[in-house]
Amino acid sequence: MKNQYQDKIIHGDCLEKCKTIPSETYDLIYLDPPFYSQKEQKLNSRDGKENYAFEDRWATIDDYRESLLERIKILYFVLKKGGSIVVHCDSSANYIIRKILDDVFGYSNFRSEIIWHYKRWTNSQKCPIPNHQTIFVYSKNKDYKYNQILEDYAPTTNIDQILQARKKDHRGKSVYARDEYGNIKGSGSKRGVPISDVWTIPFLNPKAKERVGYPTQKPLELLERIIKLYSDENDLVLDPYCGSGTTLVAAKILNRKFTGIDISKDAILLAKERLEKPVISKSNLIKKGFNSYINAQKEYLNILTGIDLVPVQRNKGIDAIVNIKDKDPALLRIQRFNECIQDTINSLNKASINKKFSYLIVIQTTISLIEVENIQNNLYIINSAAFSLKELIKNLK
Ligand SMILES: C[S@@+](CC[C@H](N)C(=O)[O-])C[C@H]1O[C@@H](n2cnc3c(N)ncnc32)[C@H](O)[C@@H]1O
Repeated sequence: MKNQYQDKIIHGDCLEKCKTIPSETYDLIYLDPPFYSQKEQKLNSRDGKENYAFEDRWATIDDYRESLLERIKILYFVLKKGGSIVVHCDSSANYIIRKILDDVFGYSNFRSEIIWHYKRWTNSQKCPIPNHQTIFVYSKNKDYKYNQILEDYAPTTNIDQILQARKKDHRGKSVYARDEYGNIKGSGSKRGVPISDVWTIPFLNPKAKERVGYPTQKPLELLERIIKLYSDENDLVLDPYCGSGTTLVAAKILNRKFTGIDISKDAILLAKERLEKPVISKSNLIKKGFNSYINAQKEYLNILTGIDLVPVQRNKGIDAIVNIKDKDPALLRIQRFNECIQDTINSLNKASINKKFSYLIVIQTTISLIEVENIQNNLYIINSAAFSLKELIKNLK
């Protein structure tokens, strides 16, 4: 049944509007209130026709505190029992917001302090350039929703750390586990590492396609990540300071229902417009993945797009670990364009010594005129482009 608050954008003060909403209506609340910047936030739309602005000047910091305290109390009331609240702020008043959240939600319901990190250059400050904002997460109780997101391993991760199981020794030190015969124990299938609380997501640059010209507009990528972590499909998400509607667009893309509230009529019109034709600009950094920037040689791995594997960065012989159902993983190497196939096999064999694996896989990328000798049973050579080309040459008249 359709909830009367689903997919609604409401004009007004979120305090007054939330007073009319029944308790425990929302699964997730994200808010990006004014940050106590002590200025009017202004910007022009892309075509220069509209000037958007919102007020962030306060008589005293206590006024700011009071305003947020009242609103966070009512947000607690409209949040469901298993729900979470995600509050965006920066160093201007993060200490105040943390205290309010502790008081309203309880210290024991603090879940995370996420640092949104980006690169942005400013001049003439007598301090390190501020390149982060803070996002606090609290839940209403300990049975809150959390959908794990896995990231690629860091380039500095040693292949043994990925492949081998670990245990604590008698001094509590982490060591590699061995079976009763002293053989190395595998750690099973690997999908990546759980997401950390430092997120590098680029700030919306002035030319970003999704930029609508609303002051302090947040990137869709950031909101998508928050919504995925703390809600499920069809859940109801509230943004009581919705501005240009970034949260609402992200919720729509991810099949969640939403309510947006904003005190500015211009923001409401803009959010409605944006929802009708959302524009997403995926940053190259995120699209290509950080590893592609770190190790250009891994472009070879593009050949294997779509396969369940973990790229390996710090190993001369192994390019990737391939997850295989109910077995130890396989180790894979792609033939370099200046490498003969026998050398590829030798490098992989050498690198696999003392590793726990089920198979070795070599991807052959160039035509070999010499037959490879003595291939062991657990080694597979896959001819990819080379195979097709060989067939083509054979059949050309
Ligand atoms: C930081 S902006 C939100 C930007 C938004 N996250 C985006 O990506 O476009 C804060 C918004 O809060 C709105 N606002 C300020 N006080 C409010 C209140 N009491 N109730 C509802 N909205 C309010 C402002 O009009 C402004 O649009």
